[in-house]
Amino acid sequence: MPFYHKLGKIPHKRHTVFKKPDGTLYYEQLFGTIGFDGMSSNLYHEHRPTQVKEVKGSYDVKPKIAAENNIKSYRFKGFQIKPNPDYLESRKVVLTNSDVNIVLASPQGSTNDYFYKNSDSDELLFIHKGSGKLRTHLGNLDFKYGDYLLIPRGTIYKIDFDDDNNRLFIVESRRPIYTPKRYRNWFGQLLEHSPFCERDLRQPHELETNDEKGDFLIKIKKQGEIFDMVYATHPFDVVGYDGYNYPYAFSIHDFEPITGRIHQPPPVHQTFETDAFVVCSFCPRKYDYHPESIPAPYSHSNIDSDEVLYYVDGDFMSRNDIEAGHISLHPAGIPHGPHPGAVERSIGQVETEELAVMVDTFKPLMLTEDAMKIADETYHKSWLEENHKK
Ligand SMILES: [Fe+2]
Repeated sequence: MPFYHKLGKIPHKRHTVFKKPDGTLYYEQLFGTIGFDGMSSNLYHEHRPTQVKEVKGSYDVKPKIAAENNIKSYRFKGFQIKPNPDYLESRKVVLTNSDVNIVLASPQGSTNDYFYKNSDSDELLFIHKGSGKLRTHLGNLDFKYGDYLLIPRGTIYKIDFDDDNNRLFIVESRRPIYTPKRYRNWFGQLLEHSPFCERDLRQPHELETNDEKGDFLIKIKKQGEIFDMVYATHPFDVVGYDGYNYPYAFSIHDFEPITGRIHQPPPVHQTFETDAFVVCSFCPRKYDYHPESIPAPYSHSNIDSDEVLYYVDGDFMSRNDIEAGHISLHPAGIPHGPHPGAVERSIGQVETEELAVMVDTFKPLMLTEDAMKIADETYHKSWLEENHKK
């Protein structure tokens, strides 16, 4: 997170005596990434955050690979992923490589009897359906349809949903997820040409501080396994913190699209970046205003990146037969582009209501067994003109 945040109570100076009302000490923890070079926050706990009582065991959650080396375009029907009452079990990895997991989830319930921590990856949750509250040891964030929730690796969290009808598109990233560098100045502030600014980013606003001892289960994801670790004190026992490393929310509806006289390339939609992939938001916008512009994109060869588009709402201008919840995968190595008729259809259109999230990965993605269960095996032939004749 590129700007400073303070929540709760903290002492005047780092690494100095900070006393509770009874005269004993609060316990300090530096919570950071990339060694001591990345973003960090300084936390003050009621109890030492190190009190492991028991490691009850672990289980494997690595995705099962169905296609390691793929060159076919695919469409996946995301809403066919079955709802599951448990948040973690509901998460199905559909595409994966050593940098990123792309996950679909339809949780029906909250994380009632455990806390969760992903120690491998930053998590970016896109809320397609549902609302509720993300509760973390660094404060809480309310969420609803259209929100991105960025949860830095190591954040201990619970997620409460308002009801059982929830659909999430999740990106797990082995590398930190940042806002695009080209939109930030030397100090990290978002510049005037950025499609969003700090005012649009929601910081944690309420801190749950529990001074409790007992048995507290944290499910900790590490190297593709979940470890069931029991701690002796409540994981949400922070009285205050400050710094740059904390979860935040950003609504896709607050993304201000950049438009032009002629077709603007995908980078204008960029919302997040890592050194292994980018995330873009395609939002409702006015189309190009050159009198002879073609609003639909041209065919393009993302010769060295895989393109994943998750369709959220509205008609997607360049595609035929695409619905909300679908994912299209256009792999590296071959060109892709609008379906037959889409270019002609787009001429003269003045605006679009399309809403979609795109993830472009720089390494090829593998397809999982869960992906193949919801795959359309005919999609790669969908550009043939004979398939579009009525
Ligand atoms: Fe594309």
